Amino acid sequence: MPNAHGGKLVDRSLSGPARRAAFENAHALPRIELSERAVADLECIATGVYSPLEGFMTEEQYASVLAHKRLPQGLAWTIPVALQIDEARGARVPVDAEVALAHPNGDILATMTVTSKYRPDQEKEAQRVFTTAEDKHPGVATMRAEGPVYLGGPITLVADIPHGDFHEYRKTPTQTRAEFEERGWKTIVAFQTRNPIHRAHEYITKVALEGVDGLLVHPLVGGTKADDVPADVRMRCYEVLLKHYYPAARTLLAAFPAAMRYAGPAEAIMHAVARQNYGCTHFIVGRDHAGVGSYYGTYDAQKAFDEYSPDELAIVPLKFENAFFCNRTKQMATEKTSTSTPEERLSLSGTILRGMLVRGELPPEYVTRPEVAEVLMAAMAPAG
Ligand code: ADX
Repeated sequence: MPNAHGGKLVDRSLSGPARRAAFENAHALPRIELSERAVADLECIATGVYSPLEGFMTEEQYASVLAHKRLPQGLAWTIPVALQIDEARGARVPVDAEVALAHPNGDILATMTVTSKYRPDQEKEAQRVFTTAEDKHPGVATMRAEGPVYLGGPITLVADIPHGDFHEYRKTPTQTRAEFEERGWKTIVAFQTRNPIHRAHEYITKVALEGVDGLLVHPLVGGTKADDVPADVRMRCYEVLLKHYYPAARTLLAAFPAAMRYAGPAEAIMHAVARQNYGCTHFIVGRDHAGVGSYYGTYDAQKAFDEYSPDELAIVPLKFENAFFCNRTKQMATEKTSTSTPEERLSLSGTILRGMLVRGELPPEYVTRPEVAEVLMAAMAPAG
């Protein structure tokens, strides 16, 4: 099993009497109510998904990430994870003091020692991370909406983060590592997805599985943009697909709690770092990974991995070309494995699949398996 990013899997949660005492004490602290995205970040930090981070990023860490795409100690890191708040709240937050972090429902979840408060240039951040400052990019819009004042410092989780769904699939890095161990898997490939699973996904995950012991199907269930298919519908798709078409002994389905940032190449690196922390040795990077609209080149996310040496990023990317259905051979293929002409190729993507659903068209079998199409049609077809 690979080490966590930076060597040690972070666990910033208290348990037993210490947790109860810290939870009680937190009620006397100044309180910051978190956004949904900040709750997702908090969970990722506390459970080690974002190892080696032990808290929200300080100004020093933030500056290093923007300037070098690395944390100050030299590890690969591409996306700022600071606690962003609005101007008014920011003016009141003390530095070098403890605050309580609360869920949007008001429940206290964590404490944080604020060691750093800064107000970075968000235009520069947008350009560096998203390669655009346009507000119509959903990641840029969220970055601005989260607030202009950034807080950094270590956090401690003092309560469970409440979740209304996917309980059986919510596994921390400690839990996935234990499960891989139990199954005797030494090499594990992780598959990130935010779309209903289609035949290109099935193809690349199975080709990847041919070379390793196990496959972690790891759909993102944190916040996504409004027109993405909701996570509960997607989860039902993964369930039926895995039940009918994947070997249970070699496949594990679990939920990835992070919020989507749509940062393409920058996010592909973070997706890989997180999966290393979950105990995976390999990570699938296909066409336009974590992309949105036409902001990124088809293979930019794959090229992003070339900037790092193995001591900066240990997990190995498995890069896949655009996969399509080849009408000549009646199977999935890529440019690498096919001699078909462009006219004989039926392309597929999350966007194409979502378009069919919005128009009320039954996705054909070359796009997605009938069991998956049935789930999607029942959940997504326009009324009437
Ligand atoms: S993502 O935002 O999570 O990247 P999506 O769920 O569509 O979106 O993709 C999951 C993974 O499958 C990504 O690595 C993506 O590059 C890859 N992928 C999606 N469609 C294809 C395709 N047609 N060919 C090759 N790879 C693909």
